[in-house]
Formats: sequence, structure tokens, C-alpha cells
Amino acid sequence: AAGTPIVVAVDGPAGSGKSSVCRESARRLGFGYLDTGAAYRALTWFAIDSGCDLDDGDAVATLLPSFVDRYRISQSPDERWVRVGEVDVSEFIRDTAISGEVWRVSRVPAAREALTALFRNTMASTTSPGIIAEGRDITTVVAADAPARILMTADEAVRIARRAGEKVGETVAAVAESVSARDARDAKVTNFTDAADGVTVLDTTRLDFEQSVEAFLRIVASATSGP
Ligand code: DC
Repeated sequence: AAGTPIVVAVDGPAGSGKSSVCRESARRLGFGYLDTGAAYRALTWFAIDSGCDLDDGDAVATLLPSFVDRYRISQSPDERWVRVGEVDVSEFIRDTAISGEVWRVSRVPAAREALTALFRNTMASTTSPGIIAEGRDITTVVAADAPARILMTADEAVRIARRAGEKVGETVAAVAESVSARDARDAKVTNFTDAADGVTVLDTTRLDFEQSVEAFLRIVASATSGP
């Protein structure tokens, strides 16, 4: 129906090129962009900042109403900011100290429910003609009924090399360890390695950035064009 935003749901492991490809595709389509991983990272930052024991699921759950109240994120592919209350956490949440702790928070069912509700509200209320939402359970849970659903993958060695290129000052071995360890922990919480029914796999192992964006846009176009 007119006015209903087109949702493009995207999942994939760390370093699959999700974020950069989704951002650029959103720019070209004039769509909004929703980074759901940023919410899990920001909640983790908030929990640590509040002195919460991350292994205490009930304690994490207690923080959810105030987090949801304070959390704000850019939905523009051209602006990258995340705030919790007055604090701009855009940089903090990219720290390896946060990346390594997110799983403790993301495994708490109440946290997943609260953030899923938040993402659905955001997608439904966007003023853009469409929105690209990326994460680990967007194609399967958050927007399982989206018209376009994509699972982005790439061979592990390629994903590690891409991450190493972004993380200046960290050794390839350290990046390899953090990518593999994080995927292994994340895989216990969400399934982002097998494509669910109706989900299109986009393997970027042999594609450069521009080719990946073009392939992504082709999938979106064919999924959203009429019969
Ligand atoms: O996409 P990212 O690497 O910024 O995500 C950060 C962490 O959040 C990741 O380790 C797994 C978790 N996550 C999740 O559990 N569900 C999502 N929809 C998105 C991210």
C-alpha cells in the first residue's frame, strides 16, 4: 500500500561486508538504513556503564525500559551516530572491549524481545520509501515477512582480511581471533549461516565492493518488482 515502507532484511556474519554494502545500497535507493548490531552494542555499553553484571540476565532485563527510552540512532546511510541519553556512544561501541561482551547481553531473551520490538517500530515509522535493516536475525525473526531478504556471506579468510583492513593497528591474527570467536558465540544465539526459506544468499567472496553493491541491488529489484 502507498506509504508503507519497503523493508529489506539482511543478515550475515562479521566482516561479510553487510554494513558497507547496505549503507551504499540504501544511499542509491534513497532508503533509510538500520544497524541493529549497534543497538546490541549500545545496550552492552549501557549495562557496563550502569555497573550491571552481564551474566545476570534478570539484571540486564531490568535495564531495558530505561535503555529503550534513551536509545537514539541515525537512520541515514550518510550519518553514523548512536546516542544513549546525552552520551554519544558512536565510537565507544566499536571498541573490541564491547564487541567481545555483546554476546552476554544478546543471549538474554528479554533483551532480544525488547530490541526486536524497537526495530519493528523503527521500520514501521520510517519516513523513507524503504529501509534496509541488517543484523543476525532480521531475515528470520525481526522482519521475517519482508519482501526482500538477503543473507550475505563470504569465506572466513576474506572476512578476516576485510576486517583487518578496517582495524588499523590490530594484527591480522588478533582480528582473526576476534572474528572467529565472535561468530562462534553469536551462532549460539542466532542462526545467520543457513538461509531460511525464501532468503537469497549473496556470497561476496569473489566480488569487490562495487560488484557486491550491484548484486545486492539486483536482488532487491527482483524481490520487490511486481509479478
Ligand atoms: O553487526 P555487529 O557486528 O555490529 O553486531 C554486534 C553484535 O550484536 C554481534 O556480535 C551479534 C549481536 N547481534 C545480534 O545478536 N542480533 C542482531 N540482530 C544484530 C547483532
